Amino acid sequence: MAREVTHEERGPAILDESDMGDDGKIYVCRCGLSDSKPLCDGSHNATADEADGVVYKYANDEADGERRAVDEIADEDE
Ligand code: FES
Repeated sequence: MAREVTHEERGPAILDESDMGDDGKIYVCRCGLSDSKPLCDGSHNATADEADGVVYKYANDEADGERRAVDEIADEDE
């Protein structure tokens, strides 16, 4: 599976102790769906049933938004 996620940030995020969870760890979102980027907010649970070989597009890039499978993701120039 693959997932298209739109990011609007233009630079890095600086993390510090305040970003740590109760277990002393910092969980960074890698699924792209967190509403608290760059931190994981549990939204990745929406990806648990994504099928192998399918590309998904999430509306509004939020786990609670609509999800649909797409044939492929292509650039405008293609
Ligand atoms: S990895 Fe993205 S919300 Fe957890």
